[in-house]
Amino acid sequence: MCGIVGYIGGGPEKILLDNLKKLEYRGYDSAGIAVKSGKNIKVFKSAGEIKNLIRIVKPCENATSGIGHTRWATHGKPDEINAHPHVSENRKWAVVHNGIIENYADIKKDLLKNGVEFYSETDTEVIAALLEFYDRGDKLEALNKTLSVVNGSYALAIINRDSEELVFAGNKSPLFIGVNGENVMIASDIICFDGFCDKYYVIENGEYGYADKSGIKIFDKFGKKEKEPVRLKCSFSGNENLYTHYMIKEIYETKDAVKNIYEYYSEPHNYEMITKHDFGKIKKVRLIGCGTAYHAALMGVEMIENETDFDCSACVASEFRYKNPKIGEDTLVVLISQSGETADTLAAFELAKQKCALTVAVINVEYSTLAKKCDIVLPIKAGVEKAVASTKAYSAQITVLYLLSLMLKSAVSGCGFSADEVINLYNQCEFGNVNNLKLLANVFQYNDKLFMIGRGKDYFTASEASLKIKETSYINADTYYAGELKHGFLALVNSDTFVIVFATEKGILTKTLGNAEEARARGAKIILFTCFDLDSDITDKFYYVIKVKDVGSSLQGVINILPWQIIAYYTSVNKGINPDKPRNLAKSVTVE
Ligand code: M6R
Repeated sequence: MCGIVGYIGGGPEKILLDNLKKLEYRGYDSAGIAVKSGKNIKVFKSAGEIKNLIRIVKPCENATSGIGHTRWATHGKPDEINAHPHVSENRKWAVVHNGIIENYADIKKDLLKNGVEFYSETDTEVIAALLEFYDRGDKLEALNKTLSVVNGSYALAIINRDSEELVFAGNKSPLFIGVNGENVMIASDIICFDGFCDKYYVIENGEYGYADKSGIKIFDKFGKKEKEPVRLKCSFSGNENLYTHYMIKEIYETKDAVKNIYEYYSEPHNYEMITKHDFGKIKKVRLIGCGTAYHAALMGVEMIENETDFDCSACVASEFRYKNPKIGEDTLVVLISQSGETADTLAAFELAKQKCALTVAVINVEYSTLAKKCDIVLPIKAGVEKAVASTKAYSAQITVLYLLSLMLKSAVSGCGFSADEVINLYNQCEFGNVNNLKLLANVFQYNDKLFMIGRGKDYFTASEASLKIKETSYINADTYYAGELKHGFLALVNSDTFVIVFATEKGILTKTLGNAEEARARGAKIILFTCFDLDSDITDKFYYVIKVKDVGSSLQGVINILPWQIIAYYTSVNKGINPDKPRNLAKSVTVE
């Protein structure tokens, strides 16, 4: 959701556009760049994809620096006028912004009274206007005064017509600065630094400053700061060229993620902060996440309850903070997030912290805000995930949550901890007969609704499978507990209905098969999804049976989701949808 890049150096137009492409995966609906060209600021903006922007950007003479942005609309529609950068009335300042200026309406009202004109519906434009309003020739003073009147979250990259510097400020929104010789890059995602620099500075809340060819000056309310850069550890380039879309590439990377997890959690110093922790006063565990991460949380509850006696439950992050949750020093709050930047999950963290709970982040982006804030960090080691639809991260989340359940067991009971079951999972991790899955995708693409039912953990897998199909194929795939069938939704079932029955839980298999029969008796076409060898007199009655490997452990959920991710992917492609960028969605949801 929204991306920032800024650059000091020759040919900024191309560098900005190339890096905006790298930020595309975060989701956006318009884009723009502003370039300092001699004594002017040239701005190019367009709605829609970056290719529209690339078409209109012209080379700028004497261009020395610039800023760029991918915008996911919050204040004002996604059009060219609302796209960033926003320039001040006299075109002296240009600004790109991630975050939300909460008091922008009041500021705008005041500035309008002072004769300032506005052109867009955005909150961001007030920043450009304030900078010009307070500009008496000292850029830091103008920035300071501007920041003193705004409330909210921001990562800001700013250029000024009369100087060579890139000005920046950060508050509750990620911002990083990389340096390569005389060239400087500002970005909201370190993915931009791949191939550019090997060290970067993290701009913390309340920090601001400017960068020029001689280096970076960072300040906070106490004055100038000396900061150490952080080493860039990961390389982000992968085998993109082998795949048509990130989504399918990332599904197939699940195996690598599982292997990485095994290797990482086989090292005692990576798990001992849990296994050696004194959990004496902890009575409850609360797992929090949004979307896919919430589905992982539901799995995590079952796993932790299976291995320990903790009172355990899951909550959607956007609900958690409005519930007055009964948490405190006796609570372990597990925050699950691929990006570590999801606004609702961060807000849930703040509440947990306020109430003195012990916090654990189950996280993919290890340099993210959530990872920096939580007491304990358990990385999921999935590598960069770019497709909006989360795939390998989900499998990695439930794998790490399973290990967390074993770590907690080890901590409270004194038994040893081993990650060995994960290597068994790795050895059995198969993607099934993809041609058969493609055939199902061919069938699903012509349906506007699908029903998915299951019991226990199968219900959670079904929920995640249905989310994948909804977001990538725009099919209304509804999930129900199988036992709920006759309490209502059976009324919707007729001979046009596909009912997908998830049946991989041994103890309740016959019950689930009974529910499949109830739907079949009403004419539904049943697709049975199971890991068991069932007699043909059962399976012959069904429209289709998908059989997956029985790994015989709590990690069955990883095996179970893979075919559904593949089916969702091919259904999306068949329908002519770009599965990497579903409409209206963003990779990382940084607003409430
Ligand atoms: O980065 P996070 O894991 O915190 O993101 C949470 C959800 O926004 C995310 O899982 C979303 O539901 C995905 N698009 C699902 O594929």
